[in-house]
Amino acid sequence: MKALLKIVVFSLAVICGFAGYTTFGLPLIVPEAPPVEEKLGGDITMDQFIAVGEKIYNGKGTCTLCHNPVGGRAPLLEPVASVSMERIKDPRYKGKATNIEEYIRESMIDVSAMVVEGFGKKGSNDTISPMPDVSKGAIGLSEVEINAVIAFLQNTAGVEVTVPLPTGDEGAPADDAPEEIRVAENAAEAFAKFDCLSCHIVPGVEEGGDIGPDLTKMSSTAGKRVKGLSAEKYIVESILKPNDFIVEEFDADMMPDDYAGKMTVAEMNMIVDALAGKK
Ligand code: HEC
Ligand code: HEC
Repeated sequence: MKALLKIVVFSLAVICGFAGYTTFGLPLIVPEAPPVEEKLGGDITMDQFIAVGEKIYNGKGTCTLCHNPVGGRAPLLEPVASVSMERIKDPRYKGKATNIEEYIRESMIDVSAMVVEGFGKKGSNDTISPMPDVSKGAIGLSEVEINAVIAFLQNTAGVEVTVPLPTGDEGAPADDAPEEIRVAENAAEAFAKFDCLSCHIVPGVEEGGDIGPDLTKMSSTAGKRVKGLSAEKYIVESILKPNDFIVEEFDADMMPDDYAGKMTVAEMNMIVDALAGKK
């Protein structure tokens, strides 16, 4: 079964890769199967729970989209557990946390309770955080998943891991069969699948972030951005090579530059049509 799946995936990759090459001049391929959803039932050791947290941190949680050493638009989180108590004592702190665990949890959900200096939304004087509430929307981490990430961050900083292990009664992910490789069926799904919503407001989807520009006006601006590039071409370029043109008042190296290896041509087309205002 697995072998067959692999063959199918490989053929799809070849077909789509070729189509992508001809359509956009870049090989767009079908992504690898996403990792199997971690089982978070009982019978798990703290070391395993920390490892689950690390996976969520690097994967489903999309934390490293922003918390990475390249873009510099979000603080590095390796030391966050060691600075949490200082944050709570900061005069600008508005939250309710009294210990490290509570501070990290609050930072993930009530994101503006403390805005690390220099990292607030532009123009907000560090009072509003651009980070999305990771328990909601496209990221949607459960309470147990959030605990796993906290365990990982406490362990990484070398402080005591204080979160409880899951008991198995929390409603673990219902289905632990391998997820199929899901190709988005419409633009809204594609925006969610590729985490565009963590950073952008896009047409037709209510929730969105503002680390990147608002994309709801792209249909009128895209064609004027770069001389010689049509609206559609500009949008494709912006997604595949985000650093080739940097929108005024925004920074380079923030947007992921590896979408070419992850998107199918169909997904790219749906995104471009939605942004260019075409049906
Ligand atoms: C879209 C970008 C983005 C994503 C995705 C994101 N963050 Fe953040 N995060 C930020 C920014 C910007 C800040 C700094 C502003 C603030 O303090 O809220 C921040 C602050 C934090 C802080 C407080 C840091 C400190 O030094 O006090 C924690 C903890 C944190 N994030 C955890 C996470 C975790 C865990 C995830 C993934 C589940 C995540 N973030 C996903 C942008 C992001
Ligand atoms: C981690 C944050 C982040 C993610 C995720 C992200 N972007 Fe961006 N994006 C940015 C930033 C910051 C800019 C502005 C800087 C630049 O031009 O590269 C930008 C610029 C753009 C632009 C050019 C906008 C203009 O006004 O000219 C487009 C189009 C775009 N992104 C589309 C997307 C799409 C589609 C996705 C998902 C497939 C996506 N982005 C994912 C941060 C992000």
